[in-house]
Parts: sequence; C-alpha cells; structure tokens
Amino acid sequence: MAKSIFVCQSCGAEHRKWIGQCPDCGDWNSISEQVIEAGLKRTGGKGKALATSPITSINRESNPRRSSRIEELDRVLGGGIVPGSAVLIGGDPGIGKSTLLLQAAARLAAHGNRPVLYITGEESITQVHLRGERIESMHENLLLVSACELESMLATIGEVKPETVIVDSIQTTVSNRLSSAPGTVSQVRDCAAALIQNAKQTGHALILVGHVTKEGALAGPRVLEHMVDAVIYFEGDRGHAHRILRTVKNRFGPAGEIGVFEMTDRGLIGIRDASRLFLAERSTDTPGSVVLACMEGTRPLLVEVQALVAPTVYSTPKRSAVGLDTGRVAMLTAVLERRIGIPLSQHDVYVNIAGGARIAEPAADLAVLLAMVSAFQERPVADDVALFGEVGLTGEVRPVGQPESRAREAANLGFTHLLLPGENHQRVQKANIIANMRGESGSPLRLSAV
Ligand code: TYD
Ligand code: MG
Repeated sequence: MAKSIFVCQSCGAEHRKWIGQCPDCGDWNSISEQVIEAGLKRTGGKGKALATSPITSINRESNPRRSSRIEELDRVLGGGIVPGSAVLIGGDPGIGKSTLLLQAAARLAAHGNRPVLYITGEESITQVHLRGERIESMHENLLLVSACELESMLATIGEVKPETVIVDSIQTTVSNRLSSAPGTVSQVRDCAAALIQNAKQTGHALILVGHVTKEGALAGPRVLEHMVDAVIYFEGDRGHAHRILRTVKNRFGPAGEIGVFEMTDRGLIGIRDASRLFLAERSTDTPGSVVLACMEGTRPLLVEVQALVAPTVYSTPKRSAVGLDTGRVAMLTAVLERRIGIPLSQHDVYVNIAGGARIAEPAADLAVLLAMVSAFQERPVADDVALFGEVGLTGEVRPVGQPESRAREAANLGFTHLLLPGENHQRVQKANIIANMRGESGSPLRLSAV
C-alpha cells in the first residue's frame, strides 16, 4: 500500500502531516508530500548475533588504496581511493568536477584490474567522449553509461562489477520508489544511501558528484555529508584559472588538505608549487601588501595579504574582508587602535587574500595587522619579508603550529627575512634547521621574533 510522508526540502526532516513551518529547521513552506511505495517492511523480529573479530586480526593490506595518479587528488583523499568507501565531491556547477573525475577515471581504469564505471546523468555519453578525447582521458576499461534511474544503476553495477563507480551527479539520480522530483532531499538521500550500501557490500569505491546551489531548487549535498566517508569541495571562481580541492571530512585521512589545480584547455593540471602561483602577481614596493606563510592541512602555502585603509565617508566605518573572516579583521582593527594606538575610527579597512585563496587559521593575524599598518602609513614592507603569528585581544603575539614547515617554504621561495612569534622562534632555532634553509639568493633566512 502506498503511504504518504511530508518531507522538509531544507533539512530533510520527516513529518506525519503537512505544516507551514518545519519545526526542525524553522523554514517556511519547505514541506512537501511524498508517496512511498511499500517496499521496506520492518519485521520487528529479534536480531541475530553477528560474528565479531579482534581488531588485531583484521588485515589492513587486504584493502589497499588505489592511486588516481593525480597527485593533488590523491593527497586530498589521504593517499588514494579506498575500496568500499564513498566520497562526495561538491562544488558549484561548471567548476570542473566532471573534468577532474573523467581524468581520474581514465587513470584508474588504465591501472586497475576491473573496469571503472562512469554514470552520467547530466551529459550524453557523446559529450563525455568528446571531452575525454580533448583532455586525453581515454581507456577501454573506462565504461560510460547515461542513466538517471537508481535501480538501473544498481543493476548495471551488479553486471559490470566495476572497481570504481562515479555517479555524476547525485542530483540527477532518481529512484522509482519515490514520487518526488529529482534533486529533492528525499531522492538525494535515498539514492545516495542505496548506492553507498551497494558499494560497501560489493567493495567498489564510489564517488558521488553533488552540486551546491544557493537557491533551494536542488538539495545541497549537505544532507549527504554524514552518509559518506569523505567530503571534498572543489572551489575557485570563474575569474581565476586555478581551482582548490579541499577535504572537509575524511574517515581515512586528514581533513583540511588541499589540492591545487589549474584549468587549462586540456583539462585540469595539478600544481605542486602552489605558493608560486599565489604570489605570481604580487606587486612589490606597494603599501598594504605582505606575504603570509600559512598552512593548508599539512602543506605550507605562501599567500599575499593586501590591505587598503581609506578615510571613511560613512558614519560607521567599514571593515571588509575577502578570503578571511570579517569578524577577525574587525577584531584586529580594534587591537590596532586600542593596543598600538593607530587611529582607525575614521577609516574604512579592506583586507583581501590575493589570488582567491581562503585562509581560516589565526596565524594570519600578524600579516593582516602589518598589512593594515603598512597601508595606513603608506609605507611598503620590504619584499623579502614573510611572516606568520596569531594576535590576541591584549595585543600579545602567540605561537602557531608547524613553524618549521612555514619557515622552510618561505626559504624555498627566496624570502630571506621571516617575522615570527617569539616562542616559535626558539622552536625553529632549536630544530636546528636554520642552517639548511637557504633562499634562492643563497643567503640564510634571517629570523626576527615579534
Ligand atoms: P565541468 O567539469 O563540466 O564542471 P562541473 O562538472 O563541475 O559542472 O567543467 C566545465 C567548465 O570547465 C567549463 O566552463 C569549461 C571548462 N573546461 C576547460 O576550461 N577546459 C577543459 O579541458 C574542460 C574539459 C572544461
Ligand atoms: Mg558536470
């Protein structure tokens, strides 16, 4: 017998009857009716005891990771794709998800024992073929199928027995058991659950593509985040050619890793030397520009922090930030005023991370402060200086993690002078790596504790 449930399209909560406002997430008019065909029956019987195994007897080697042969992607995945796991790749439409996955799929197919199945629900297989030819991602073990129906996908997977399955995208996947439209929360959630369960049972790796949209027309992949083993976001803006792949969650490796790519006419190319890319357009000898040595996951990265300080025309001066938390910039502006005595109450402050990078760590504080002071005084900072350090509300400079990696990256890129927190200074010196740190000019890196 068919049964109706009422599902909130914003948060996925289920209700017995229609209501105007979802009590779970508070959204209005987000609840729609769905008819479910009877299928899953709860038997209500007693469960049977399952076999257990000692943790020490479980063989790790039986589940080796598969390398995608794309270094930047492997790093983000924590070393490769784990069989039986589910990975979600989210990102704005047109950012390059399909391109990246097609490149990865062809390499996985070329080096695997069994085929890679690429299920496309968005493009025709001719379109995918044309793209594959252009970006040189062709292999006979890479099987394409155009499908939207979940049940046909599962049947195809059962027949092909692939090593890796890519579903592009989860928003176009529909189950014929549900009456709701493609992309609604219940379709996305139920289809993903079925695909993930199937992957765990048969042992293939599953990669799901999910679009993130601001309108609520397509359910964002947020609903899926807790269902999958790893969540990766593909970011970047259309104005820049580079794209950043970022791990948000990973059950098999560290989160917070990034991979950097450049979109070219022959697909995505991994960029190992990301600092050089972010500093490429740096204007030297300009007030308000400093170089920050930050960490993205385990990877040191140098970025340019820019500040502009201008007399305000508003009654409340503006504090604005791109690539940084605005609240943090407002706090640092206050620290500058109260603790260092630079009067900014009649000035607007704008801070930007050049090149479209996003920095979330407090180690950027010192760089933001110095950029603001440099902009306010209209005095440029020497262009061989890099820095890092957290600043507290009393104006104290605090140590940050991994100072040695930051110092090494700065030295590698030819910076000869590093400003760093006092406690980190000792650590960098104690580690006795200073002698090995030589800039391109050949002079040793000079350390100044702040
Ligand atoms: P796509 O992978 O289709 O994005 P998504 O799957 O995330 O929606 O990428 C589409 C964009 O990438 C499109 O604007 C064209 C561009 N592109 C290139 O610049 N070079 C290429 O080699 C390819 C395949 C795409
Ligand atoms: Mg696509």
